[in-house]
Amino acid sequence: MSHKPNIALLATGGTIAGAATSASDTTGYAAGTIQISALLEAVPGLDAIADIQAETLFSLDSKDMTPAHWLALGQRVQSVADQNDIDGVVITHGTDTLEETAYFLHLTLTTYKPVVLTAAMRPATALSADGPMNLFAAVSVAGSADFRALGTLIVVNDRIFAAREASKWHTRAVEGIGSPETGALGWANPPRLNRPPLARDRALLPLAAIDAAHWPPAVEVFYLTAGASPALLDAAIHDGLRGAVLACAGHGSLPDDWLPAIERAIASGCAVVRASRVAQGGVDAVRGPEGLLHAGTLSPSKARIALMLSLASAAPERFGEITR
Ligand code: SIN
Repeated sequence: MSHKPNIALLATGGTIAGAATSASDTTGYAAGTIQISALLEAVPGLDAIADIQAETLFSLDSKDMTPAHWLALGQRVQSVADQNDIDGVVITHGTDTLEETAYFLHLTLTTYKPVVLTAAMRPATALSADGPMNLFAAVSVAGSADFRALGTLIVVNDRIFAAREASKWHTRAVEGIGSPETGALGWANPPRLNRPPLARDRALLPLAAIDAAHWPPAVEVFYLTAGASPALLDAAIHDGLRGAVLACAGHGSLPDDWLPAIERAIASGCAVVRASRVAQGGVDAVRGPEGLLHAGTLSPSKARIALMLSLASAAPERFGEITR
């Protein structure tokens, strides 16, 4: 790209826009309170690498992000990415649910232009805040033609990650997000791609095909601790649940006393996915009642998103296409 790239910057809140009363406070602060203009002013040299069109979509602590926000954000990202004069999109977001928003966008956007989420673990008011460098690096990646057609990306802490592969893995460290199994795709500053993502699951359901009136289908994750009650699943089915992701121990091990409830759920038409609560390794399709789906390498929260989209597509079997 010979010209200075045009980047659409969409702010949604998070710690990157967070303010604390003390510069040493990195946990007791209000997320999503600082204006996007102030974030941009804190990044010297940004105007030398890109022309930025910034807008604030939400000012949320990302714990409050919902599938309705994903849809509104996705529609805006698709709309700016479809503009001829935009080269890439950067989204600022909280780290807490960033991996979910990123994976939703990965499964729904149809664009070859780089879409990059970035965040911060330290609020903007902190000593050595990580947000400004993360924002600079995210804009660099979004403006680079090397990062086209790779699906949705995450740039934090000098590294680039694939939406499918990354998760939050530390509650307070600056390296709060990583790809535990597969590692980074490359380095962010300056941008360098060392390997492509495992991007076999793009556009499972394009945004335009999502019926907002019926979004989201009711899909929940059940965390199976020792002795957890299967009555939870029965109760949720009774309440109209359409999909259940079981975050099981180990290699997706199903407790014997859950099997009857799982069989009842499947028989009632609820899609049931076996996943693991362990961060690495995934699950193979080796066990479980007839009709049970398997998450493969998807985490429970990402399996939930893939299942929501599969159910919304009226082709639930599509879930299996991306977890092979
Ligand atoms: C949030 O997710 O909005 C708060 C936490 C963070 O951004 O690190």
